[in-house]
Amino acid sequence: MNIMYYGHSCFGVEVGGKHLLFDPFISPNDLAKHIDITKIPADYILVSHGHGDHVADAVTIAKRTKATVIGAYEICNWLEKQGVENLHAMNTGGKKAFDFGFVKCVKAEHSSSMPDGTYGGNPLGFVIESAEGNFYYAGDTALTYDMKLIGDYRKINFAFLPIGDNFTMGPENAIIACDFINCKDIIGMHYDTFPPIKINHEEAINKFNMAGKKLTLLKIGETITK
Ligand code: NI
Ligand code: MN
Repeated sequence: MNIMYYGHSCFGVEVGGKHLLFDPFISPNDLAKHIDITKIPADYILVSHGHGDHVADAVTIAKRTKATVIGAYEICNWLEKQGVENLHAMNTGGKKAFDFGFVKCVKAEHSSSMPDGTYGGNPLGFVIESAEGNFYYAGDTALTYDMKLIGDYRKINFAFLPIGDNFTMGPENAIIACDFINCKDIIGMHYDTFPPIKINHEEAINKFNMAGKKLTLLKIGETITK
């Protein structure tokens, strides 16, 4: 799997020959000014919840690419009103087969409203199961005991976890989340973008190392292969 980092909680993941794009928030991100959103490929756009720092570029990219947007029912309704054509509504606990693999929607302990204040339904995390491996994209979430269920039913090869604290988990709780999901290989997200979530990278990486886990902090625009 190729993983592209577009800043904040936005990643592209190439799996099963398809381009998945998670939580597109690029054009309002001062740290991601060098990313050209007209070049980002997407066959599917997965939206974890309705907050602006997760949906800002969803409509623009969906209209250009004709990607199918996967998200909570309420988010899909809102996107339809913005003129997005291809939508696949899901909700907590639901699993569905797509042409790249399975998407399972899991609980995120957070809130969800759209940028205009419309109710956004349940905030979600996504577990992607594919022939190339499984990963967990946590969205915005606190540490929650429900994460134990995620690692019980399949092997999680790597996970995207929020580590910026203040609005979500910070590094200490993300380390506990690693034990809950039974996965040691973490890609950090939801840090540095805004003043309350600025973190010390070295300190966070060291904390993970000390706990026997690996935290990768990608450069915005960087691509890695898993
Ligand atoms: Ni949020
Ligand atoms: Mn957020």
